[in-house]
Amino acid sequence: MSTLTFGTPNQEGARKLLLLGSGELGKEVILEAQRLGVETIAVDSYEAAPAMQVAHRSHVIDMQDADALRALVEKEKPDFIVPEIEAIATATLEELEEEGFNVIPTARATRLTMDREGIRKLVAEELGLRTSPYAFASTEEEFLAAVEEIGTPCVVKPVMSSSGKGQSVIEPGGRALDAWEYAIAGSRGRSQRVIVEGFVDFDTEITLLTVRHAGGTSFCPPVGHRQEGGDYVESWQPQPLADGVLEEAQQMAAKVTEELGGWGLFGVEFFIDGETVYFSELSPRPHDTGMVTMVSQELSEFALHVRAILGLPIPEIALLSPGASAVIRADGHGTKPIFTVDTAALETPGTHLRLFGKPTTRPGRRMGVGLARAESVEQARENAKKVASAVEVGYAEDAD
Ligand SMILES: Nc1ncnc2c1ncn2[C@@H]1O[C@H](COP(=O)(O)OP(=O)(O)OP(=O)(O)O)[C@@H](O)[C@H]1O
Ligand SMILES: [Mg+2]
Repeated sequence: MSTLTFGTPNQEGARKLLLLGSGELGKEVILEAQRLGVETIAVDSYEAAPAMQVAHRSHVIDMQDADALRALVEKEKPDFIVPEIEAIATATLEELEEEGFNVIPTARATRLTMDREGIRKLVAEELGLRTSPYAFASTEEEFLAAVEEIGTPCVVKPVMSSSGKGQSVIEPGGRALDAWEYAIAGSRGRSQRVIVEGFVDFDTEITLLTVRHAGGTSFCPPVGHRQEGGDYVESWQPQPLADGVLEEAQQMAAKVTEELGGWGLFGVEFFIDGETVYFSELSPRPHDTGMVTMVSQELSEFALHVRAILGLPIPEIALLSPGASAVIRADGHGTKPIFTVDTAALETPGTHLRLFGKPTTRPGRRMGVGLARAESVEQARENAKKVASAVEVGYAEDAD
């Protein structure tokens, strides 16, 4: 017999989960933890972030401030520290792990994925997995040399960025320095470092949601997705793949997640060109394109993450039905968002709407998602897009 102990929130013996980053993905993680009676604490740099709205309590701190992060962890003494974003003082997480705190999946995984360099070098140079050709640069001179080495077309990204920020493509004959300036402007913090990647002319890109848990490693059926300007627009599940391609991607995902270790769900991104599989990047946590699993799987990526973290078994992951997600964005700066929904789209069976509750808008900010389950992926994509386009995002104009 194997047993696990659960507590009661806000009582002695509670199991406490501290979430670092409180966006829409964290909100779903908290909801799943709440269902298992876990005491939840949501943290972010601004008030009323989505996950804070459903947690037992919340804190606003600068998570890149080592002292502030340590003080909070020492005060809350969580059983699980669950990072939801990359911009965290990961050296402090490594110290806290040494001192006995449980960082999900591991503090090293959060450090290696905090920028694009650690994970890329680990995967390509130490594990020998196939990636696009790449070079790093910290000065204009190094950058021009990197572009020369990689050749065009190539993709330029700040090493510290996500959701396509600062990312652009240099076409043959294009002005390389425009991409450099754009990347520096879109970089998180004061970093001036960029990666130049050979452009992979892929047929398909997938996220392979991979769970490391007490009973081993499990995979969700592949999620296909479409990105615009480096940010996700729609995703669907399953993405059909040629014979052998899924097996190869699974082997690559197993290798890198095993190297990173710990328990939890990872989003492992691949480009598929014919039968060639390229590792692209990885999140040691639920992935935005995986929101589709809220309708397509019995256990969503968020439920799987929480079950793995707590040490619960992960039964075979099967698809309930083909599914799709389509993103709802804001188009300007504002406060007090108001959503006007043409409700007809939600009359279709299998359709769902999620509004994240973000307190402010900015151009391109993801505010919600349309979800759909249907008999085919094509039908699910169409229905999810109908839901997303039925939502108009309004807001109060903000002076700043
Ligand atoms: N080398 C490449 N060749 C072709 N397309 C690429 C390349 N690198 C990135 N892309 C495209 O840009 C998208 C975003 O890139 P990437 O995943 O590296 O950035 P990101 O900002 O971390 O995105 P997110 O945080 O949304 O996952 C990819 O999903 C892919 O569509
Ligand atoms: Mg990505």
